[in-house]
Amino acid sequence: MSDSLDQFIAASRNLPALPAQIGRLLHTLDDPNRSARDFERIVVADPTLSAQLLKLANSVFYSRQEKVVTLSMALVRLGQKTVKSLILTVWTQTLRRFAKREDELALVTRLLTHGTACGVASRLLMRARARGGEEEAFVAGLLHDIGRVALICQMGLNYGMRVLDWAAAEGRDLREAETERNGFDHGQLGARLMRSWNLPPLYAETAERHHDANLSPETDPVLCAVALADKLVTDMGYNVVPEAPRMCRDDLASHFKIDELPEFRENCREETERMLQALSSL
Ligand SMILES: [Fe+2]
Ligand SMILES: [Fe+2]
Repeated sequence: MSDSLDQFIAASRNLPALPAQIGRLLHTLDDPNRSARDFERIVVADPTLSAQLLKLANSVFYSRQEKVVTLSMALVRLGQKTVKSLILTVWTQTLRRFAKREDELALVTRLLTHGTACGVASRLLMRARARGGEEEAFVAGLLHDIGRVALICQMGLNYGMRVLDWAAAEGRDLREAETERNGFDHGQLGARLMRSWNLPPLYAETAERHHDANLSPETDPVLCAVALADKLVTDMGYNVVPEAPRMCRDDLASHFKIDELPEFRENCREETERMLQALSSL
């Protein structure tokens, strides 16, 4: 795998990258010596990003409450972790620029929607569990299939035709199909990219392992929330093609007490649609 993945990355000219400015912002938010004002100063240097962040913050979290009018106010009201989620959400939307044709754009957009829905569902699952980790789960869900987005950026519609359609026609597991076609799967590519972007190890690990059958919610709660959310949002129609069912799905469903959350799907759909609407108007 490593060789073919290395070769693919070395030969690729269109793989997504995390812009240095986004990395700097995430780093600033983590730095206890930097203030909300410091953060604001960096963001306002990019008027587009500032406007997008404020718009998203207001649309998603403050639709019926007092508006946040500055980024330092958003940071105080929403907290550092939520602002990080917003920054990464805005950035993922910029990946649509990689699409060279209408049909590629449709595929990238559906995958980004899958990530957004998975982030929302993962956060709801962790919230119901009431032991923290909600925003980490959102970001892990948002980015879990970033390797699939990267494959489209690089392969264009060949990813659809040579991998997705072929897997669907043959009844093959998606990761198996990717490995047979490319020598590696989307989880491995996503993990490699996130490591190269210096994102926290949890996100690379989630990308790499979210299809594993033997995940334990006690040791890997965020990873398990994402694995379950991935399946739930796929069942709700937020995916490109159905991926392989997880063998441990029932265990995960009972751990997160999904049957005791009768409004989970409605809440998940409502929150996802609200977020998508805000994103579409950025
Ligand atoms: Fe996946
Ligand atoms: Fe997925």
